[in-house]
Amino acid sequence: MIIYGTRPEAIKVAPLIKALEREPTLTPVVVVTAQHREMLDQVNEVFGIIPNVDLNLMTHGQTLNGIAGMVITKIDQVLEAHSPDAVVVQGDTTTVMGAAIAAFNREIPVVHLEAGLRSGDLASPFPEEANRKIVSQIAKVHLAPTEVSRANLLADGVPDAIIHVVGNTVVDALHWAVGLEAAVPVPELDGDGSDNRKVLLVTTHRRENLGDKMVNIGKAMRRLALEYPGLLIVWPAHKNPKVRASIAPQIEGLDNVISIEPMEYAGFAHLVARSDIVLTDSGGLQEEAPSLGKPVLVLRENTERPEAVSAGTVKLVGTDSDRIFDEVARLLNDGFSYKEMANAVNPYGDGKSAHRCIAILKDLLGE
Ligand code: UD1
Ligand code: UDP
Repeated sequence: MIIYGTRPEAIKVAPLIKALEREPTLTPVVVVTAQHREMLDQVNEVFGIIPNVDLNLMTHGQTLNGIAGMVITKIDQVLEAHSPDAVVVQGDTTTVMGAAIAAFNREIPVVHLEAGLRSGDLASPFPEEANRKIVSQIAKVHLAPTEVSRANLLADGVPDAIIHVVGNTVVDALHWAVGLEAAVPVPELDGDGSDNRKVLLVTTHRRENLGDKMVNIGKAMRRLALEYPGLLIVWPAHKNPKVRASIAPQIEGLDNVISIEPMEYAGFAHLVARSDIVLTDSGGLQEEAPSLGKPVLVLRENTERPEAVSAGTVKLVGTDSDRIFDEVARLLNDGFSYKEMANAVNPYGDGKSAHRCIAILKDLLGE
């Protein structure tokens, strides 16, 4: 049984579900909590995944304990009804933590995909750093993306024998998406491709950035748009109303800032490929953009994804408005600095992670 609830989980389990569907001896049961509604459905649709069970849990203004409580209670009922041989969860959301606890309490083996990421700070990302540590304590199999994540798990006392470095399935998903014929879903950039403006892609949503920090990010976007009228800033706005309330007023009335609804994954992957610089607090984008050779400026003070920082394509810039402006401006003005960061690197995988996961799942299930 594969259980997930939000957009990034959906993207990263999709290659595994598609690979499981091709296995004659394994029967995937796909369960969504729908902690996210529209953003989850967008991903399932593009990958052609129809969940067997949809708990439809999302509410506006949902609280961490509200979601966690619902996930544990409702997933418990699903586990009772289906008696799966194993449960797979991916990443670090509240869905992941709740579903893992529910399976653990029923003595069903938990397989943790993308295990071993650590920022070392329980306050950032909040509450994800705690969620992933909790799952690491109770999982029976840890599918780690890199050797760094393996080392983190070992440091937490997880036995080496149950850790497998498989790469990150996000690279499988990205390869699939960029291989599709898809238009960049931004009217200004589609058409005959004659718009050759530099593109700054911005995404934001982290809980610990909500409020003043998010407003600072919006202010930096405004100053960049005004001082670089030839730059096109594209902001696919996360559905969280708190994100929109902070950023939207800062960018109002600016012709060269495009505010747009969340994009379906294939179109978004093509937009990343068309972009020149990525400014983000997203986890997934820190993994995807380096594969496409795009410099990533991360709107955080720390990261659980140090591999691309070491490779030089990702830089932590925090949420101070002037610092964000200066870092983007440097990449726009200084070709040497830009070239130094714009190297295609693949520290997170080779696009074949799902197949490695299947072999390990078969082993676990005695196949
Ligand atoms: C969640 C995860 C975070 C992950 C992020 C990916 C937790 C605690 N947080 O954060 O780890 O990085 O998803 O985006 O699990 N909303 C909609 N439609 C949607 C999705 C969200 O309207 O399709 C709105 C709802 O009002 C919802 C709010 O966004 O209440 C917040 O969603 P929630 O899942 O609680 O938190 P995220 O910030 O999205
Ligand atoms: N993404 C998408 N459409 C968008 C913006 C992002 O499909 O409009 C994808 C992106 O490629 C990445 C994932 O969503 O794979 C990241 O999701 P998010 O930033 O919400 O969560 P995080 O990765 O931070 O947990």
